[in-house]
Amino acid sequence: MQFKVMGVTLCLALLTGCGGSGASETSSPTPTAEPQSVETAASQTPAPSATLAETAATPPPAFSQCRACHTVEPGKNSIGPSLFGIVGSKAGDVPGYSFSPALAQSGIVWDPANLDTWLTNPMKMVPGTKMVISQPDPEKRKAIIDYLQTLK
Ligand code: HEC
Repeated sequence: MQFKVMGVTLCLALLTGCGGSGASETSSPTPTAEPQSVETAASQTPAPSATLAETAATPPPAFSQCRACHTVEPGKNSIGPSLFGIVGSKAGDVPGYSFSPALAQSGIVWDPANLDTWLTNPMKMVPGTKMVISQPDPEKRKAIIDYLQTLK
């Protein structure tokens, strides 16, 4: 008879324990937030953009696409010719670069409008060119061409 008594005592102890811990878990309070610090962060005004002139010669993110094949350093040709001083130059004129006959004989002058047509679809503008990428986003083309104009 001693075992049974002990068993009942154990069960009671377990039940009480479970009940107790369950109750304390559900009633755990969440730490209170500090509304004052949140308001201070939200009321901070962003710094005014005072450095517009300085960012002019910084390559736009879209230009990273061009870097795969072009440098912007004079005389440094890669898969494509250097793009230094490209705006206003004649197509196929970069020294030391072996252009496709198609581009070399195109007679194009790289003004911003021609560059825009070129980047939209080089293969359509100059069938037979070796440049086989395009940039369909007009805003990205504009950012790239604005940047190219600073390379002189
Ligand atoms: C996959 C390589 C590749 C990428 C990427 C590329 N180009 Fe080219 N690019 C070339 C090649 C090759 C030529 C030479 C084409 C030819 O001879 O027909 C060229 C030619 C040019 C020319 C004409 C140069 C001249 O002297 O006539 C311009 C301008 C130009 N690329 C601009 C760009 C710009 C801007 C980008 C980025 C949007 C770009 N390219 C991305 C390979 C590339």
